[in-house]
Amino acid sequence: MNERMEKIVSLCKRRGFVFQSSEIYGGINGFWDYGPLGAELKRNVKVRWWRSMTQQRDDVVGLDASIIMHPKIWEASGHTATFSDPMVDCLLTKKRFRADQIEPQSGTIYHFSGAKDESNGKSCAEAYSVLIPTGKHPEYARKIARQFYVGRGLTVPALLDERTEEAINTTRFNPENGSLLTEARPFNLMFKTFVGPVESADNTAFLRPETAQAIFAQFKNVLDVSRQKLPFGIGQIGKAFRNEINPRNFTFRSREFEQMELEFFIKPDEIAAKSAPKADAAPGQPQPNWGWSEWHKYWVDERIKWYASIGLDQDCLDFYWQKKEELAHYAKATVDILYKFPFGTQELEGIAARGNFDLTQHQKFSGKSMEYFDEEDKSRYLPHVIEPSAGVDRLVLALICHAYNEETVTDDKGKSETRVVMKFHPRVAPIKVGVFPLLKNRPEIVKKALEVRDLLRPHMTVFYDEAGAIGRRYRRQDEAGTPFGVTIDFDTLGEKPELLDTVTLRDRDSMQQTRVKISELVPLLLEKIR
Ligand code: GAP
Repeated sequence: MNERMEKIVSLCKRRGFVFQSSEIYGGINGFWDYGPLGAELKRNVKVRWWRSMTQQRDDVVGLDASIIMHPKIWEASGHTATFSDPMVDCLLTKKRFRADQIEPQSGTIYHFSGAKDESNGKSCAEAYSVLIPTGKHPEYARKIARQFYVGRGLTVPALLDERTEEAINTTRFNPENGSLLTEARPFNLMFKTFVGPVESADNTAFLRPETAQAIFAQFKNVLDVSRQKLPFGIGQIGKAFRNEINPRNFTFRSREFEQMELEFFIKPDEIAAKSAPKADAAPGQPQPNWGWSEWHKYWVDERIKWYASIGLDQDCLDFYWQKKEELAHYAKATVDILYKFPFGTQELEGIAARGNFDLTQHQKFSGKSMEYFDEEDKSRYLPHVIEPSAGVDRLVLALICHAYNEETVTDDKGKSETRVVMKFHPRVAPIKVGVFPLLKNRPEIVKKALEVRDLLRPHMTVFYDEAGAIGRRYRRQDEAGTPFGVTIDFDTLGEKPELLDTVTLRDRDSMQQTRVKISELVPLLLEKIR
């Protein structure tokens, strides 16, 4: 992990954004818990997605489906047969890797045809190889090979038929110790469990690896109750589980995570093309005759605007149009929205044009019609789908990485120090405002500060803090990413009569303080956090 990422991970633990799951028992790889600040941040992200994708639109409704569903769902979707990653194991340590994530290495390969043990006459005829960097002492390779044969039951192995070969960019060896790896084989990523008291094949079920399939399976029910007409969408936020071979990069690739998915159902191109465009539609606004590629572009644009609305503008994002040969077999196009993480530019969201693959499959496997009756066209057909699918945890990690700033600040006495400040957009910041009485031993100031806290609390998350010097209290909120600080002082009580019932409002990023009337605080802050 690079230095910046190490500082971010350490801040996450220190300030209670993210903890390792089950830490007191040594942790469990690929699982994470969100602490008080992380829980608020994550909640704000989900609330904003839900609001923008469902509540503020006439053409999208919500769903909250179960995590465990009928196993046939995963047969229909193709997950049972193909939702796998290629896996390899180290022949020495048994450590498991994703074959496609092994960095190519070059060096000298030492091959051995087997080994025999003179002390007890035992032998092992299994061939084995070790890769070491060119120029490294051969004894290193032999030591690894002897450990391998000890693992095969020999006590003092003598290596047989040593020969060497130069290798360039091979991915057949464990990058950590040079040992040969097994051949790659598929590893299904779905977590299995049993439904009911009997652990049998008939009762096997899976934790959902994506939220999307529940939306397809409930398409008809939602259509019947919501009185929607195509084009319309169904959105869902919820947990998904993947038994990733190598969870890594902090929360980026986890085994339990949350998704925010929209399945937006549209008419097939040939049906949509029959509709006349609206003469009065604003540029970029949906048109009845749009085909899948216009809708796909529309959703890419909508999602980019949404990321900007929570502080991730285009400068920190990247976009990747999957090449034809990379597309899933049913997809017509997929655009990945990527964030420039400290560990590399990586995917936050995929926006796929999935055709009518999923509904076709569920119709076939369930035997129930998934067709839509088009009243205008007087025809029945399977709608096509555009799917913006985002990960909550990845986005939270991107927001944390993006917010992390170190600044050198100099106080009135000329003393410099490093200020760690989390510059979250006020819309997602876990705490919106800190409320500070200047002195905690002045009951009249404390009383007023508590009144201000109670005035703000119904509208936003407030943190009241009276402990320590005011500068220290500001720093604590800087690290929590609180965008505003309100200080109640003697002027608030009328020491300068013209400042009666005013407070100082400190801006986290500029550290500028302005004097504001208490009566104006709520509308002023709401305007910035909404
Ligand atoms: N229904 C489509 C689908 O699930 P995906 O690209 O596999 O597509 C969508 O997943 C999003 O879910 C990703 O862009 C990512 O943000 C998130 N995601 C996927 N696997 C993840 C993992 N192991 N850990 C955290 N987030 C993950």
